[in-house]
Amino acid sequence: MKDFTKSMIMSLTWAAVCFPLSVVVASSDDLTQYVNPFIGTEGQGNPGTAINSGNVFPGPALPFGVVKFGIDTTAFDWTNVDADAGYTPNGYVTGVSMLHESGTGGAPTYGFIHQMPLSTLEDVNILDNFTYMQERTEFDIASVGYYKTVLANGITAELSATAHAGIIQYNYSSNTTERHILVDVSHMLPSSGEAQHSQFYSNGFLERSPDGTKYQGYGVYRGGFSSRPDAPVYFCAEFDTFPDEVQLFSGQYTDPYWPNSTIFQPPIFTNATSIIGRKGWYGYADRVGGLFTFPSNTATLKSRIGVSFINSDKACQYIASELPTWDLEPVITAAKQQWNTEVLSKVITTDHSNVTVLEMLYSSLYKMHLMPSDRTGENPNWDTEEPTYDDFYTLWDTFRCLNSYILLTAPQRAADIVRSLVDIWRFERFMPDARSGNYNGRVQGGSNADNVLADAWVKGLNASEYGIDWTDAYAAMKTDAEMVPYNTFDYGDPTGSVKEGRGALPDWLTLGYVSMYDPATGTGFGRCISRTVEYGLNDFALSQVAKDLAPQDYAHFFNRSAGWQTIWQHNFTSLNFTGFLAPLYANGTRDPTYSPLYCGEWCSWSDITYEGLPWEYSWTIPYDMKTLISFMGGSDLAESRLDAMFIPGLQDGTVGQGNGVGTAIFNPGNEPSFGTPFLYNYLGQRQWKSVMRSREIVNEYYSNRRDGVPGNSDAGALESWMAWNLLGLYPVATQPIYLLLSPWFGDLSVSVAGNKTLKVTAVGSEDGPYVQSVKVNGVQWEKSWVTHDNIIGGDGGTIDFVLGSEKIRWDTGELPPSPGHLDLGIRN
Ligand SMILES: *[C@@H]1O[C@H](CO)[C@@H](O)[C@H](O)[C@H]1NC(C)=O
Ligand SMILES: *[C@@H]1O[C@H](CO)[C@@H](O)[C@H](O)[C@H]1NC(C)=O
Ligand SMILES: *[C@@H]1O[C@H](CO)[C@@H](O)[C@H](O)[C@H]1NC(C)=O
Ligand SMILES: *[C@@H]1O[C@H](CO)[C@@H](O)[C@H](O)[C@H]1NC(C)=O
Ligand SMILES: *[C@@H]1O[C@H](CO)[C@@H](O)[C@H](O)[C@H]1NC(C)=O
Ligand SMILES: *[C@@H]1O[C@H](CO)[C@@H](O)[C@H](O)[C@H]1NC(C)=O
Ligand SMILES: *[C@@H]1O[C@H](CO)[C@@H](O)[C@H](O)[C@H]1NC(C)=O
Ligand SMILES: *[C@@H]1O[C@H](CO)[C@@H](O)[C@H](O)[C@H]1NC(C)=O
Ligand SMILES: *[C@@H]1O[C@H](CO)[C@@H](O)[C@H](O)[C@H]1NC(C)=O
Ligand SMILES: *[C@@H]1O[C@H](CO)[C@@H](O)[C@H](O)[C@H]1NC(C)=O
Ligand SMILES: *[C@@H]1O[C@H](CO)[C@@H](O)[C@H](O)[C@H]1NC(C)=O
Ligand SMILES: *[C@@H]1O[C@H](CO)[C@@H](O)[C@H](O)[C@H]1NC(C)=O
Repeated sequence: MKDFTKSMIMSLTWAAVCFPLSVVVASSDDLTQYVNPFIGTEGQGNPGTAINSGNVFPGPALPFGVVKFGIDTTAFDWTNVDADAGYTPNGYVTGVSMLHESGTGGAPTYGFIHQMPLSTLEDVNILDNFTYMQERTEFDIASVGYYKTVLANGITAELSATAHAGIIQYNYSSNTTERHILVDVSHMLPSSGEAQHSQFYSNGFLERSPDGTKYQGYGVYRGGFSSRPDAPVYFCAEFDTFPDEVQLFSGQYTDPYWPNSTIFQPPIFTNATSIIGRKGWYGYADRVGGLFTFPSNTATLKSRIGVSFINSDKACQYIASELPTWDLEPVITAAKQQWNTEVLSKVITTDHSNVTVLEMLYSSLYKMHLMPSDRTGENPNWDTEEPTYDDFYTLWDTFRCLNSYILLTAPQRAADIVRSLVDIWRFERFMPDARSGNYNGRVQGGSNADNVLADAWVKGLNASEYGIDWTDAYAAMKTDAEMVPYNTFDYGDPTGSVKEGRGALPDWLTLGYVSMYDPATGTGFGRCISRTVEYGLNDFALSQVAKDLAPQDYAHFFNRSAGWQTIWQHNFTSLNFTGFLAPLYANGTRDPTYSPLYCGEWCSWSDITYEGLPWEYSWTIPYDMKTLISFMGGSDLAESRLDAMFIPGLQDGTVGQGNGVGTAIFNPGNEPSFGTPFLYNYLGQRQWKSVMRSREIVNEYYSNRRDGVPGNSDAGALESWMAWNLLGLYPVATQPIYLLLSPWFGDLSVSVAGNKTLKVTAVGSEDGPYVQSVKVNGVQWEKSWVTHDNIIGGDGGTIDFVLGSEKIRWDTGELPPSPGHLDLGIRN
């Protein structure tokens, strides 16, 4: 058995590596042919497993869809990997479910609203998925709007989805005699890796129609990444076939931990149409579900399932309004069409010379639009006319590249996301940095919604047509900057709130930096260095909105944004370079053991930097590169220090499991390093080195293979970083500018600002990727950057590159701006 499984894994990997996405003969307008939903589902160096994978969700979903309909697997290697998106390449299938996240790490969230097809009840305890889980006998197949899995029990399941509903078709092989559908309301994705934040099933309810073709109800769940409290998810489902028998059941409450804490007593069957384990929202109620048995001559069985956060009638209505068919085909076609129109056709190229790169581009665009989930009209907590979005997972990950991409190509969508953030502030007092299950949490660094709002402001979403109430928006930002959030005493870092806002604000307000936690005196906070630089960027973001909206606040927040200079140690040396951010205690002295190559134990919640080394964070002052470069000793020293970021072997391995990729200090798998490769643009006449880094990193760490994403995709953040590289631009979020890189295509038409076009062309790429010269809007260009207005002004913009092999120092013009430039004169 074990050996067989091993060889299964080997062959899975082989197939994943060697077969590119089959080139479908399809209309050239159907860009979904270039989308491979499996990219980012396997780990680099861990073929055939989800270990260190992108945790990308491969099942059918619409852009920003509430429903992400996919298979859930019990992780094959339970102790090493969680199934964050439900799917793992090698796990056993425990069912399909309607709600998932994509690309996340930490404790899994969702995996709710379950069905599992069974071909026998022999030796099956329906309360114990280990007794009915199934291996897959073929590779799953996924394309936009479609998923197929073939189970060892002879049952094939095909799935498609709309925004709030899903349709599934079960086919039975000829030797399958029994046809049962198990509905386990208590099914959800558990966590082994971060058990303290695991989800729990709390309560549930299920009722059936008299003829057994319909059932509806709700499950109540708690926990997950945001540690949300009990909240119901409602469902409504129907079958296209009359069952022979329906048995509803309840069973003893079990917690999600394996193996010791669970005793699976058999369920109690009953014919009652409603079952409730305990009273009200009781958190340890019995598990409930239904077992539907269909005639043995059923060739195919179909089911439609709707979900809602409001009530089960609404879940039923979604089936009626979104899925008025029992055919999968039109549902798949509609999904493809929506992805083409809303997302994929925003970037068009006639350059089809390299299908691999087309697959990388369009698969990235696809994965960049799975989250957040558009729950407009589905807000269970307050009545609102505003858009509602959930599954910000997290803004810490997405603010640098992904939100800026949506803003450029779909400004109304970006505005709606901003409006939903502000609406959350209106009712819950804080915008989220992360949010899932309608609950804020957890904050990894700064209050990065501030950055998203500032980016929107400086790029013109302040126009009234976008409907953002900027008075409230600025007030929401100010709350982050001034109000200390209640400390939720998270086990990862009990020193300050990680739910929302800025947990280390007391230090920021009184010291101008976040001080290092000192157990002896009880002063300071976790992540002191990374939070210092992030709070600085957040305050810079405030200043950019305040400049226009609240001029009286401008100087205050602008000045505070320079707080990082209070922890800059001008004489501190590491690897021959002098001047670093350092952890200071509240009394202003430095931790004597400090090395910028060391972050603490895991680069995690209670360490001095989060998911990156102090060396990396010492580069993250995008709003005042001028001061930073002068602190580093000028352009030449900054250049060699940047070069050092990419030298293999300089990282001493403390970034923490799952956080570090490669052996250089630059970490392609995590967001703090996102902007670093392109900082050569700030040095003058060295843009060619940004191009060199861009090409090296994309070529080494990204591909169209299943392991083609270097670590958790983070809701599409990594894919968005790569997509910008392919377009030849890189946004500097919170500023209305883009750094110029080098496009991967001969021509690109990017739909920007609603109905305008940014045209990018490149000749000479066959000789090399380096910029020989460039024209912007027809004008010869010597700057290594463009403004937002340059590319969306008038009817759009044009950028025409001449590329080649020469490393030309063409960027002799004005350097990219440092709009936050302020030297506080502190010399520690
Ligand atoms: C499956 O069963 C295991 C063992 O009881 C349990 O820990 C897990 O939560 C169940 N569900 C899934 C989706 O794995
Ligand atoms: C059904 O038949 C197929 C093909 O003969 C075989 O591979 C499979 O193992 C059988 N499944 C079951 C559940 O017996
Ligand atoms: C399932 O059966 C239907 C009806 O015979 C057929 O159209 C469909 O192609 C089958 N699906 C698979 C995956 O075999
Ligand atoms: C816990 O489970 C493990 C693995 O199944 C087993 O070896 C061990 O004896 C169990 N411990 C208890 C106290 O049941
Ligand atoms: C449920 O109802 C069916 C049909 O009336 C009956 O045969 C069966 O015994 C009942 N089962 C239970 C557990 O009451
Ligand atoms: C296509 O691009 C990929 C990724 O950069 C590269 O590995 C491959 O060599 C290219 N193929 C051709 C034919 O240029
Ligand atoms: C929008 O913001 C820009 C940039 O800050 C500013 O110039 C413009 O006046 C603002 N427009 C409105 C309508 O407030
Ligand atoms: C600016 O910030 C520094 C350091 O936090 C502080 O010492 C100074 O008083 C501030 N200046 C103003 C004008 O707020
Ligand atoms: C630091 O300097 C030493 C001695 O000159 C040299 O061997 C080493 O390569 C330098 N390290 C880096 C990272 O430049
Ligand atoms: C500053 O605080 C640290 C940590 O509590 C302590 O070790 C150090 O002695 C203090 N230094 C001074 C000068 O008070
Ligand atoms: C499209 O362009 C027209 C003018 O050409 C403008 O009035 C309209 O607002 C634009 N629509 C969007 C969505 O930007
Ligand atoms: C850094 O070192 C130099 C030379 O030892 C010294 O002159 C200077 O005062 C030091 N600067 C700081 C900020 O400690």
